[in-house]
Amino acid sequence: MATAGRGEWSGKLGFILAAAGSAIGLGNIWRFPYTAGENGGGAFVLVYLFFVLVIGIPVVLAELSIGRFAKLNPVGALKKIAPGTKWSWLGGLGVLTGFGILAFYSVVAGWTLSYLWGALTGHASDVTSAEETAAVFNHLIGGSIMPLVLTAIFMALTIFIVRGGVSGGIERATKILMPTLLVVLIIMAIRSMTLDGGSEGIAYLFKPDFSKLSVGVILAALGQALFSLSLGMGAMITYGSYFPDRENLPQAGIIVAFFDTAIAFLAGLIIFPALFSVGVDPNGGPGLVFVILPSIFAQLPAGNLFAVAFYFLLAIAALTSTISLLEVVVSYFVDEKQWDRKKAALWIGLACFGMAVPSALSQGAVGGLTDFLGTGISFLDLQNIIWGNYSLSFGALMLCIFVGWKWGIPAALGSLESSGHRLAVGGFWSILVRYVCPVAVGAILVYIIITQQYF
Ligand code: PHE
Repeated sequence: MATAGRGEWSGKLGFILAAAGSAIGLGNIWRFPYTAGENGGGAFVLVYLFFVLVIGIPVVLAELSIGRFAKLNPVGALKKIAPGTKWSWLGGLGVLTGFGILAFYSVVAGWTLSYLWGALTGHASDVTSAEETAAVFNHLIGGSIMPLVLTAIFMALTIFIVRGGVSGGIERATKILMPTLLVVLIIMAIRSMTLDGGSEGIAYLFKPDFSKLSVGVILAALGQALFSLSLGMGAMITYGSYFPDRENLPQAGIIVAFFDTAIAFLAGLIIFPALFSVGVDPNGGPGLVFVILPSIFAQLPAGNLFAVAFYFLLAIAALTSTISLLEVVVSYFVDEKQWDRKKAALWIGLACFGMAVPSALSQGAVGGLTDFLGTGISFLDLQNIIWGNYSLSFGALMLCIFVGWKWGIPAALGSLESSGHRLAVGGFWSILVRYVCPVAVGAILVYIIITQQYF
């Protein structure tokens, strides 16, 4: 379990970009808009924002404190902090969750490759109607060969970068591309907001209608906040473990949370105005974003060029997230099982592709997977809910209990502040980690179990 030779980020900026790369991805641009649309808009968005502040940021700091202190993967880190206890199981759940998320995320990431191809061949903005773009999308995802090929390509790219290790592969990719993504998104948001009828979309996003709130909406918002910030499964433990000792870690964590949330809002400002402008139902499910985007490119000058830039950057944003998902699992096998990094990346990636097959075939190709076990939702959606909402929420709950009550706030703060930079809100953080997060997340999960409103 030597920590030597694990590598570290080249500096604070390297960490911020890599962690932002993990956080920013399909969660912001694909999952946030469609989940907001499914859950009624404004009220969901408000609860989501509340959870980012009250649960997300405290959990970011909790995970980073563990990672920086232990300099290990989630399982090894909990073992090191609480030796001889069963807490390392929580790390194990995180590793499993990373695997579970990667197995459906890579399918959706594959879809983005097809849209990138469409843009490269000049077809991104030839749209006539929303029905037509929906038909194109359904044809793509409902096939049995293409979704598998695209998932395989995406998994291969992920494996290739994770093989190279942290600072070599992950850091280099994000330095230029993340800021470029931000610029492209801002331009697209401006275009969308100035479309005819666009203001209705802005109102939908920001005017909360509290009659739309239910425990299901609240869990969806909590899951979205955690998913988007890559929390509850140890990704930030793993990334924090590569953070240089001399730099200000809490500040870096908060900057990442800020950018992640800003990008989700930008995505909302791109999708909803356009959606109202072309008259599509916000409750369109996982296909929502893919169906709406072509109509925005059709209305932008040099739309096809924009589409190329956008889909390329979206694929990269997804890739920097899949890298972090695979990295959690790989770092576990490298640190704990002494596997060779290259071998671990390859075999775990292949196994995960195997797990991704039913998700890839669940959008129409195989009927039994489309309405899985009579749940009314597809196998892919079910994975998204199980790993993305339940497992991350439970993981975040337990991590707070671990840091707040087992390891203790003084030790965790000591780790966060070990570079000499103080966390000014340390006392407040302690209250959130010890009381507010466990009670809030615990209450939501218990309420769902009692009322059995699982999806
Ligand atoms: N946060 C990533 C996204 O929004 C997804 C992710 C979740 C990555 C959990 C790592 C861990 O796209």
